[in-house]
Amino acid sequence: MKIGVPREVRPGERRVALVADAVKKLVGAGHEVLVEKGAGAAAGVTDEEYAQAGAKIVAPDQVWAADIVVKVERPTDEEIAKMRQGQVLIAILQHLAHPETAEKLAKQGVTAFAMDWMPRITRAQDMDARSSMSTVQGYKAVLAAADLLPRFMPMLMTAAGTISPAHVLVIGAGVAGLQAIATAKRLGAVVEAFDVRPATKEQVESLGARFIPMDLKLEKAQDEQGYAVAVGDEVLELERQTLAKRLPHSDVVISTALVPGQKPPVLLTTPMVETMRPGSVIVDLAAAFGGNCELTRAGEVVEHKGVKIVGYTDWESRAAVHASQMYSKNVLNYLNFLLKGGQLNLNLEDELVSFPLITHAGEFRARKGGQ
Ligand code: NAI
Repeated sequence: MKIGVPREVRPGERRVALVADAVKKLVGAGHEVLVEKGAGAAAGVTDEEYAQAGAKIVAPDQVWAADIVVKVERPTDEEIAKMRQGQVLIAILQHLAHPETAEKLAKQGVTAFAMDWMPRITRAQDMDARSSMSTVQGYKAVLAAADLLPRFMPMLMTAAGTISPAHVLVIGAGVAGLQAIATAKRLGAVVEAFDVRPATKEQVESLGARFIPMDLKLEKAQDEQGYAVAVGDEVLELERQTLAKRLPHSDVVISTALVPGQKPPVLLTTPMVETMRPGSVIVDLAAAFGGNCELTRAGEVVEHKGVKIVGYTDWESRAAVHASQMYSKNVLNYLNFLLKGGQLNLNLEDELVSFPLITHAGEFRARKGGQ
C-alpha cells in the first residue's frame, strides 16, 4: 500500500502523523511511505530522518495521491478536494464538532477513520489517540498554570521561611484529569478532584489526591463505550454548589469535563470565579468546545478580577515532539490492524473497524450532532 503523510496546514499545528520510527516499521512491512517535504519539521523530525527510515520525500500532490493518507487534524476543504473516491483517510476528525467536514468527505467518496473515535475496549487502547492527546493536555495544563501562578506549587522549607503548597482542584477525572492530578502531585501541590463517574474515585485516590464526595444518585454516568453521558440540570446545580465551596481554597482549577456529542457542562459561573483569590488560575481544557467556565475564551488567556482563565486549544502543538510520537504510535497500531495480510480490513462486524469508520461509500455513518 502507498501511505501518504502530508504536512499539517491548519494555523499553529506543529504535529505530524507519523514519525520516522513508524515509517521504518511500515516500510519494513512492505508498504511505500510518501512524506511531504518538511512535514515533520515542527515536530523535530527532519526529511533526512524520514529518508533514512525508508520514506520518499515528495511534493504534496504525490502524498494526496496515496492509497491511504494519514493526518493529524481534520482536512481542510482544499485538502478534501484533492481526495478521490475509495481513498482512505486516517485523522482526528472531530466529526461531532465538525459534521460539515465529514459531510464533505462522504460526498467525495472517502473512507475516513477517526483516530479520536475508537471504542473504549482493551483491544483499542494502544490506538486511542483521544487518550494520548488528553495525556498531553493534562500535563501541559498544569505546567501552564504553574507558570502563571504567582506562587510556588510545592511546600518549601527555606531559610527565608516556610512556603505552603498550592491547592489544585481538578474537575473531571478522565485521561486528561488523571494526568493533571499526577503532574500537580509531582510538582508538590495538594490536589483534590471530582468526576460524575463513580469509578474515578479509586483512580483519583490511587494518585494521592482527595476525591470530593457528592451525593449525585446518577442512574447512568457512562455509556457502553465508556464515554460519559450528560447529566441533568439538577445534578449540575448540585455540582456547582459543591465546587463553589472549594473555589476560595483553590489556587489552580483544571477543568476537563467533557461529554462527547454535547456542549461541555458549565461548572464555573462568573460569581463562582469571583470567590477565588486574585492570582488564581483556571485552565479550561474544554475551551475548544465552549468551555466549563462561563468566562473562557478559546485560544486566549482572560483575566477577571485578578483570576486568569486559560482557554488555549493547542496544547498538543505545545508539546509537538511527544504528541507526534504518541499519535504516530496510535496510527501505526491502527494501520497494522487495518492492513493485516496486506489488504484493507473492512469487516464491519468488528467494532474496531465500524466504530471509527465515519464516512464510507458516500455515507456519513456516525452523525450525532453537537460537540
Ligand atoms: P472525556 O474526555 O470524554 O471526559 C473527561 C471527563 O469528564 C470524563 O471522566 C467524564 O466522566 C467527565 N465529566 C463529564 N461530565 C462531567 C461533569 N458534569 N462533572 C464532572 N466531570 C464530568 O473522557 P476520557 O478522558 O476520554 O475517557 C473517559 C474514560 O474512558 C477513562 O477514564 C477510561 O475509564 C475510559 N477509557 C477507556 C479506554 C479503553 O479501554 N480503550 C481508553 C480511554 C479511556
